[in-house]
Amino acid sequence: MPELEALLREERVFYPPEELVNRSNIKQFMDKHGIKSYEELLDRSKDLNWFWTEMAKEVGIEWFSEPKEIVSWEPPYVKWFVGAKYNIVHDALDKQAKLRRNKVAYIWEGEEGLERKITYGELYWEVNRLANALKELGIRKGDRVAIYLPMLPELPIAMLACAKIGAMHADVFSGFSPMALRDRINDSEAKLLITADGFYRRGGIIHLKEDADKALEDASSIEKVIVLERIGLKVPMREDRDHWWHEIVSKQPRECETEVMDANDPLFILYTSGTTGKPKGIIHAHAGYAVGVAATLKYVFDLKENDVWWCTADIGWITGHSYIVYGPLILGATSVMYCGAPDYPKPDRWWKIVEKYGVTVFYTAPTAIRMFMKLGDEWVEKHDLSSLRLLGSVGEPINPEAWLWFYKHVGKERCPIMDTWWQTETGHFIVTPLPITPLKPGSAVKPFPGIEADVFDDDGNSLARKNAGGYLVIKKPWPGMLRGIWRNPERYAKTYWEKFEGIYLTGDAARIDEDGYFWIQGRLDDVLNVAGHRIGNSEIESALVSHPAISEAAVVGKPHEVKGEAIVAFVVLKKGYKASEDLKSELREHVGKEIGKIARPDEIYFVPDLPKTRSGKIMRRLVKAKLTGGKIGDTSTLMNPESLILIEQVIERS
Ligand code: WT7
Repeated sequence: MPELEALLREERVFYPPEELVNRSNIKQFMDKHGIKSYEELLDRSKDLNWFWTEMAKEVGIEWFSEPKEIVSWEPPYVKWFVGAKYNIVHDALDKQAKLRRNKVAYIWEGEEGLERKITYGELYWEVNRLANALKELGIRKGDRVAIYLPMLPELPIAMLACAKIGAMHADVFSGFSPMALRDRINDSEAKLLITADGFYRRGGIIHLKEDADKALEDASSIEKVIVLERIGLKVPMREDRDHWWHEIVSKQPRECETEVMDANDPLFILYTSGTTGKPKGIIHAHAGYAVGVAATLKYVFDLKENDVWWCTADIGWITGHSYIVYGPLILGATSVMYCGAPDYPKPDRWWKIVEKYGVTVFYTAPTAIRMFMKLGDEWVEKHDLSSLRLLGSVGEPINPEAWLWFYKHVGKERCPIMDTWWQTETGHFIVTPLPITPLKPGSAVKPFPGIEADVFDDDGNSLARKNAGGYLVIKKPWPGMLRGIWRNPERYAKTYWEKFEGIYLTGDAARIDEDGYFWIQGRLDDVLNVAGHRIGNSEIESALVSHPAISEAAVVGKPHEVKGEAIVAFVVLKKGYKASEDLKSELREHVGKEIGKIARPDEIYFVPDLPKTRSGKIMRRLVKAKLTGGKIGDTSTLMNPESLILIEQVIERS
């Protein structure tokens, strides 16, 4: 990475403003414990029992009954706050309805300009009423509820209602296709689905209930459906199965008891892509997750009572679960929530929102930053963004150029950027700056206190401060650590714990420089990162070969200016089918239908053959090398070398 190396040589370091440092939550925590420096903080927090006990107190966790043990680690399974009785909804909601009844929890804005503000008190009633409705429809502790909703306040309401009665929510991003929804319902065996009639996107209408109905044609575990009326679409309702949200909820009492759970009972399942075509159902549990998300939010983004927090992610991804729903609510924060396209109707929509509501802390993704960079500085400059004090980035490595643009044009060189590295599996930030740490553009700085991450070589030796690329690993359990893959313990053990015993393998490559700063280099496995979202190569390949014209497919990533990675597909046609531009669009649409729009290939090449091993495994790595001009490397297992020459010709011709 020449860009990064150039920067490193320049040793450009950015220091946080002194006032921000002095007033920061982390500084207060350090003062309280007589901790003098960042290094000392990292050192002291190696005592996990001490550190996470303190964190639980600092974020105000209230137990139904106290834990007997802080952490119990039997690789590859962890338990946190063992023996405690707890429910995350108590801290996120029940407690807040007393402490902050009239404080706004969510400031919501729809694409069409509609605005809603919901206080903690109102949120509490709404959650209770829906929780009672879920009970009436037969949902009990341990049941799974699928949620397929766009960015509406009813989405956190639905999640909290499930958690309140001890059911697990399994959210499916509303941009996913009916097929993707169906697979996730079937894997989780959800009994109930919560969805909406439709919603607006880029001025058009998305018919969500219609999509849900398609999924339900082949999802027999679903017994009941709750449909939220968002835009007043006429949708078919199946009498024995479908209920309007407003009808079933209006007759419910406004109180609902919060289920007393074990601290380690599961809270939700969230699916993420892996190296096979089948997504992984990542499981998170109540207490550890609660402490982890709230502590990281409090100390990384420095949230205080009067902040206006805006995390631009969709709640359908982990970022939204942790930092729009649970983290901010546990801290009693006010969050902005926007349902619409970032550049609609004009490229300054987001900056308008920042100005209008006085957003103070703003957390987004490199892909969005790059998009705004391309749209021109004038759209940002038009607005008064002086309310901002801290910025954040997540989803993929942020290139120094985007970092500097964000710093200069959005943060006006006053706001440090928290480049947070984490995953669906980790639940919360793992490698991250703090508001007191000097920043190097493109580096996620160091592990959060109480977390031990490292970079290993192939044999498990640490490459710390050697500035050499290796496997990013986590050496000790952390509170938000996943509790497994839903009904697939073998895959859990194999994916994360097989390579280095008792050490969590993240799947990312990284290096640690001489100052101990982490530089994330991207995924090592066959997973693409498109616009900050993980998509398995094989998932797209299976979608392609499910089309009647395609016999084989290899999908690889290629650097892309805005999205980080573009999806490039190489496909082999079945006999009787002809290559054409029409077929290309058809294939793109087909993948869109199978998985969702974000998975549609940007480029498609028709090739006569794909490189394969003697055992018939497609060698994606070689296809990628041909496409990006990278090193071909070892080809001793390649059975059909001529395929590579033909691929080269096809690429050259287009
Ligand atoms: C993968 C996890 C966690 C929220 C969003 C994505 C990449 C995430 C960073 C960052 C470099 C990053 C990694 C990781 N990633 N944040 N700050 N710098 N890379 O969640 O879909 O579970 O994807 O996103 O490759 O493994 P996810």
